[in-house]
Amino acid sequence: MSNRLPTLAVVGATGAVGTVMLDILSTRKNVWGEIRLVASARSAGKRLTVRGEEVEVQAISPEVFDGVDVAMFDVPDEVSKEWAPIAAERGAVVVDNSGAFRLDDDVPLVVPEVNAEQVRNRPRNIISNPNCTTLSMIVAIGALHRAYGLTDLVVSSYQAASGAGQQGVDTLYDQIAKVATDRTLGTRAGDVRAAVSDLGPFPAPLALNVVPWAGSLKDDGWSSEELKVRNESRKILGLPDLRVSATCVRVPVVTTHSLAIHATFSTEVDADEARRLLASSPGVVVQDDPAKGEFPTPIDVVGTDPTWVGRIRRSLDDPRSLDLFLCGDNLRKGAALNTAQIAELLAEEFTS
Ligand SMILES: NC(=O)c1ccc[n+]([C@@H]2O[C@H](COP(=O)([O-])OP(=O)(O)OC[C@H]3O[C@@H](n4cnc5c(N)ncnc54)[C@H](OP(=O)(O)O)[C@@H]3O)[C@@H](O)[C@H]2O)c1
Repeated sequence: MSNRLPTLAVVGATGAVGTVMLDILSTRKNVWGEIRLVASARSAGKRLTVRGEEVEVQAISPEVFDGVDVAMFDVPDEVSKEWAPIAAERGAVVVDNSGAFRLDDDVPLVVPEVNAEQVRNRPRNIISNPNCTTLSMIVAIGALHRAYGLTDLVVSSYQAASGAGQQGVDTLYDQIAKVATDRTLGTRAGDVRAAVSDLGPFPAPLALNVVPWAGSLKDDGWSSEELKVRNESRKILGLPDLRVSATCVRVPVVTTHSLAIHATFSTEVDADEARRLLASSPGVVVQDDPAKGEFPTPIDVVGTDPTWVGRIRRSLDDPRSLDLFLCGDNLRKGAALNTAQIAELLAEEFTS
């Protein structure tokens, strides 16, 4: 309890999520005193702009967390695993964007529109931010669940290159440059593979293609990304037995994940009512008039905060099921914005 504005550290400030975070911190209501920017030793001394001021990036070290109230971590899993407990030990509350702690029982997994109360349930002083694919849909699904009681989710994702970090974005642009001028490409098996040469973080060329893979291989052929959608949805919604089936696919989009969803509920649903309900839910925008060509697409949604929902239909074969298509910016609500919202809830604790 004090009148001092809390000190924030942004760890991973130079990365894909970190860059969006600095933009978000510069445009949302300013609730922070000092903002410290942290990355690896490679970036130490670099100057980045936040809130209109240039700030020097510091190399990560235990001392960098001294006096920090809230530390956002936008770094790879192994870096969070090592450094988040050190930051917490030094007195910071950590909001972690990696997958390092998401399923730990003593770490809450928070989406403010769905389970804000979990922010206070943090015995290790670490709070996890969900995976971007789960986050891109869960605000809308959470609103439908509150009304109808969710029992099953079947999800197909259309995930953007930036979900694989800055390297994913660079790879997509490099590949597009290599295929853009040859109008014969995409007409013979193997011609695009030969033209792009560098696959970057993807297992197949992304330019002129779709790739049915995101993450690492887990048991029985599932990808880590598909298991995250299942496990994290269950934890956030408090539905440990929710039936979830996900197929995660990478598409040649720079930023903004899209998902086609078949959701089944415990009661009958009505498409118009679902449309109204979603339209009145915080963080959700309904854009659903196919006669006028109106539905969300990633290039129109990128850079915006809400989850955009369209193509809302009641299943032809099951009156308890809805089919819908939604888009969410994986670097904003899917990562940086949700983290910023959680951090703002913490900032209130420090200043109230
Ligand atoms: N991209 C998405 O859509 C998305 C969405 C949700 C969550 N996430 C998660 O957010 C995290 C960051 O993802 P990203 O896409 O922003 O990755 P990225 O573009 O590769 O950036 C990684 C960041 O981590 C820093 N870093 C790397 N090794 C470090 C070390 N040893 N010590 C300190 N800092 C280190 C990098 O600093 P240098 O520049 O100095 O190397 C950089 O700032 C990951 O856990 C990712 O899974 C990503």
